[in-house]
Amino acid sequence: MAGPVLIFDSGMGGLSVARALRAHYPHAALCYACDNAWLPYGLREDSTLTARIVGVCRAAVNACQPSVLVVACNTASTLALEQLRAELTIPVVGTVPAIKPAAAASQSRHIGLLATTATVRRPYTQQLIDNFASDCRITRVAADALVIEAEALISGTEPNTQRLAAALAPLWQAAHADVPMDTVVLGCTHFPLLKPWLDAAAPAPLIWVDSGDAIARRVGQVVSTLVSNRHEGRCFATAPVTSLKAGLAAYGFFAPESLFLDDLSLDH
Ligand code: DGL
Repeated sequence: MAGPVLIFDSGMGGLSVARALRAHYPHAALCYACDNAWLPYGLREDSTLTARIVGVCRAAVNACQPSVLVVACNTASTLALEQLRAELTIPVVGTVPAIKPAAAASQSRHIGLLATTATVRRPYTQQLIDNFASDCRITRVAADALVIEAEALISGTEPNTQRLAAALAPLWQAAHADVPMDTVVLGCTHFPLLKPWLDAAAPAPLIWVDSGDAIARRVGQVVSTLVSNRHEGRCFATAPVTSLKAGLAAYGFFAPESLFLDDLSLDH
């Protein structure tokens, strides 16, 4: 039987992808799973993270029986997509930095890449740059602090403008180089949640590019019929949280249920 679309992220960043999915398919049933016990992924070791991502996604797929898994996390996708596809029997749609559309949009050929520490240095990201933006200057800025600000926002706390300014300072420094930057890739799904604050902080207008629309279109290609109402809005988390209830409700999800992992060795 067809199941819902399962969105997975380390935390609440996948809500930016849920927003794009709802815009494209307002009646499709969505479920959400997050590995908040291990957040932020961007500062973790690759060697332990791959097994963890596969274990959490396996448990979430068992819990909600989806027809497709959307890995709404650049940090997880640039590391573990191959392993997830090998392990799971449903289609897996990944999220990778939107270098290709950014290169298509940039007039100045200087693009900023704002992502987690892990994503900015992954070989997968370098490959995207080599394939689609080899004629562009790419300024990579690791901005893990923005993950925490976006998490706080979903818990009801406005982003701290000083911390935002500190995280974004290297981007603005590079933006006024001899070749001005006109386009910035939001290479972490948490960052589109902060878009109004990013716009307000930018010293000059920029084109911000994220992967939400492309992911939504891809889901429509891999799943022929998106079901409605089946397990609609269930949410699973690896650590108990109450502060996210209102934020999740604003995106159409219930308060998180506990997600238990089969393999307890993945807890460390
Ligand atoms: N939202 C995730 C991403 O797209 C990462 C956040 C984290 O570091 O856990 O990369």
